[in-house]
Amino acid sequence: MTARWQTAWITGASTGIGCELALRLARQGVRVAASARSEEKLAELAAAHPNIFPAPLDVTVREDVAATHARIIAEFGAIDLAVMNAGVWDPMGAEDYDAARAARTMEVNYGGIANALEPLIPAMLIRGKGQIALVSSVAGYRGLPKAIAYAPSKAAVISLAEVLKLDLERHGIVVSLINPGFVDTPMTRVNDFPMPFMVSSEAAVDRILRGLERGQFEIAFPWRLVGALKLLRILPYSFYFSVVRRLPRT
Ligand SMILES: NC(=O)c1ccc[n+]([C@@H]2O[C@H](COP(=O)([O-])OP(=O)(O)OC[C@H]3O[C@@H](n4cnc5c(N)ncnc54)[C@H](OP(=O)(O)O)[C@@H]3O)[C@@H](O)[C@H]2O)c1
Repeated sequence: MTARWQTAWITGASTGIGCELALRLARQGVRVAASARSEEKLAELAAAHPNIFPAPLDVTVREDVAATHARIIAEFGAIDLAVMNAGVWDPMGAEDYDAARAARTMEVNYGGIANALEPLIPAMLIRGKGQIALVSSVAGYRGLPKAIAYAPSKAAVISLAEVLKLDLERHGIVVSLINPGFVDTPMTRVNDFPMPFMVSSEAAVDRILRGLERGQFEIAFPWRLVGALKLLRILPYSFYFSVVRRLPRT
């Protein structure tokens, strides 16, 4: 068991990064509540390790999230680590803007976290401890082409994590912000554009676990992509737009 956590709640655990993270924590002796919509995939995951407890939900349904949180507390006693990872990627440019699709992305990527925070924060405040990790993306650093739904949702998550850290650290609650670059998961398998420095979900989870164990605020990887994007982030808009315009477009 890791010294840091006995129990964890992971959303978006049916595939990709969340699934790999659930397995890794379970193998380390952590009892993991695994959430997503696909009950079948969660049952398969739970069958893969006895420390995994399926906790199906749709993160966009507030009452569902609150009820699932209560069920996990009843089972585990308390949640030491919550990784809010559920997310969707809907590639869309301004030319084919669809407000309903953009709102849906915001509802899952940002609203899903907001729904989970409502029961999580008071439970952690009472204990005066706990760790909350929000999964955003390097795509939230600045506007990017074809990301009119996704990038604003991830920028909102970055801002949310910054506020949470400032408000919760003085109560003994650790807040982390996970900003991956490209990771090979079902989410990126739909992409037909170049994805530089793509890493496997195993490598992503290595990096995530290392950062979470250290209580690091921002866990961003791979460093070559992050370094370039962080530099672009501080450039004046005129430079930023002229560099990004030259990137290959689909
Ligand atoms: N892969 C990348 O390159 C990359 C890069 C940066 C950031 N990220 C972020 O990393 C996180 C995990 O992504 P991934 O790459 O592992 O993608 P993934 O394999 O597509 O996983 C997404 C997970 O979110 C769950 N999910 C989606 N909508 C949901 C909802 N309404 N309620 C509950 N669960 C929901 C999915 O399960 P169900 O469909 O079963 O509900 C699935 O478990 C996401 O937040 C993503 O934005 C990924």
